[in-house]
Formats: sequence, structure tokens, C-alpha cells
Amino acid sequence: MTAASSKSGFLVLFIFCLSVTTDSWGAIDKRVAVFVFGDSLFDPGNNNYINTTTSYQANFWPYGESYFTPPIGRFSNGRLIPDFIAEYAGLPLIPPYLEPGNNEFTYGANFASAGAGALIDTRAGFVVDIQTQLRYLGDVEKNYRDNLGNTEAQQLLSSAIYLFSCGANDYGTFVDNNLSIYHSFTDEQYTDIIIGNLTNIIKGIYAKGGRKFRFLTVPLSGFKDGETACCGSGPFRGNNGCGGMRGIKEYELCDNVNEFLIFDSAHPNEQASQ
Ligand SMILES: *[C@@H]1O[C@H](CO)[C@@H](O)[C@H](O)[C@H]1NC(C)=O
Ligand SMILES: *[C@@H]1O[C@H](CO)[C@@H](O)[C@H](O)[C@H]1NC(C)=O
Ligand SMILES: *[C@@H]1O[C@H](CO)[C@@H](O)[C@H](O)[C@H]1NC(C)=O
Repeated sequence: MTAASSKSGFLVLFIFCLSVTTDSWGAIDKRVAVFVFGDSLFDPGNNNYINTTTSYQANFWPYGESYFTPPIGRFSNGRLIPDFIAEYAGLPLIPPYLEPGNNEFTYGANFASAGAGALIDTRAGFVVDIQTQLRYLGDVEKNYRDNLGNTEAQQLLSSAIYLFSCGANDYGTFVDNNLSIYHSFTDEQYTDIIIGNLTNIIKGIYAKGGRKFRFLTVPLSGFKDGETACCGSGPFRGNNGCGGMRGIKEYELCDNVNEFLIFDSAHPNEQASQ
């Protein structure tokens, strides 16, 4: 993230901290499906399978070092929030939609793509944008209808949980994201456009029967260091060069990753996700 931006991505992320349903987590059925949308905070490795750059991929060391060997593409030292939610619900890890060989999606699918935002303009060409993510849900829906029949497919979609981490990347927080649309509106107008696009995605899911939506919330803190990243370079290890694969070869890696809220310049560590 660049300090220069007045429109902090993290701030925006936290604006989305609302839950729009009244059902209780306690009622979760073990056979429920989970569908995941959004950006790098939730991407389980979809970007391994698209034509993009290492700026939007994390399938190299030290990513995953605390849990996944070899690294499988999560922007963390280990698991992400959707992984813990699946685990706590008694489900297997929700697979990346684009991973070859997955086509049943018995317990749902994860469509999230590092770099994606609520706008298709954001990192266009390098990410799976959110509208494409919704189309992929349509493909899964068709698959369910073909294989389970309409009634069971409908039940699965309406009892499913829909998780979102979306919005931060629409802001000019990264040097390679300089959208003209970002500069042509006031902050309020721009936020309305983002909320408007996200609302359309939610309406699209609602039309398919979806009712249980969850949006990323502020993590509990409890860490020794909430400012400096574990992995990266420069002030606060804030340069996005963890792993030495994004143009910056040299970077530092902390020894005690669990003391740091943030793993690389922009993403929480595994314990924060937990
Ligand atoms: C991948 O993207 C690059 C840069 O956008 C482009 O030049 C190249 O043709 C693409 N390759 C494929 C296989 O689509
Ligand atoms: C970003 O775009 C604005 C206007 O489109 C331009 O004035 C500015 O120089 C650009 N910044 C970078 C870092 O390219
Ligand atoms: C969605 O984003 C586009 C820019 O990609 C914008 O033109 C459009 O007005 C937005 N839609 C809503 C409903 O805000």
C-alpha cells in the first residue's frame, strides 16, 4: 500500500463490515455449502490458473510456510478466514474454482481472485473480476441442477453461506492501480459506484436463492505488532516484495510470525484469520 493514498484500502474494507442476515451461525448444517467471492484476502489460489503476474500470485515461498507445503497460492503464511470457517463448520477446505479437476463442488466453491475489486475496471486483465466470479457461480448452479435436480440444487443454494472480501482494491492503494475512473469522481460518488456494483452482485446471488451473506469484518487484535508486516521491505516492511518475485529481490522475513498481525504488506497472518 502506498502511504500517499488518501483513500485507504483498509478503511474501505472496514466500511463493508456489516452482516446482512439474521440467521445464526449456530444453526449451521454440516451439509451446507460455502461460496467465496472477492480478493486476495480470500483467494485460495485461483490466480495460479490465470494469465497474470506474480504481483497477483502467492504460490512461492514464504507464502504458506506455516501450513501449506508447497505454497498453494494463499496471500498469508497459512490459512485464510474462509479456511477456518469451513473447518469450524466441519467442512473440507473450499476448493479454488479454477483448480483443474474440481467439478463437483459438493461443499461450495471459492471464486476469489487476488487483486479483484467490486469494479471490473480494477486490475482488468490480471484478475478474475467479481462479475466473472458471479458468472462462475452460475456455472456451478447449472452443474447442481444437472446433477442433483432443481429442488435439491435450489435448497443447496439457498442454505449456502456467501462470504465476501471485496472493495479495498478499487482504491488507489497500490502503485499499479491508477484507474481514470478513480480520479473522475468525488470520494462519495466513487464509493457509491463501488457499493452499487457490489449490490448488483449480491442481488444476482439473491436471485439464485442466496440468503446468508457475510462480509469481512475488523480482525480482533492481540498481536505484539499491528503496524509492521512480517515479510517485505522498506518502512514497516510495507513494500509488496515478500518472496522476492515482484521486482524487489530483497526482503525481510520475521522469525516470530504469530506476533505480527500483518504477514506481507497488505494481508493478515494465519493467526489473524483464525
Ligand atoms: C498473457 O498476458 C500477457 C500480458 O497481458 C499477454 O502479452 C500474453 O499474450 C498473454 N498470454 C496468453 C497465453 O494469453
Ligand atoms: C494517475 O493518474 C492521474 C490522472 O489520471 C495522473 O495525474 C497521475 O500522474 C497518475 N499517477 C501515476 C503514479 O501514474
Ligand atoms: C458499476 O461500475 C461501473 C464502472 O465499472 C459504473 O459505470 C457503474 O455506474 C457502476 N454501477 C452502479 C450500479 O453503481
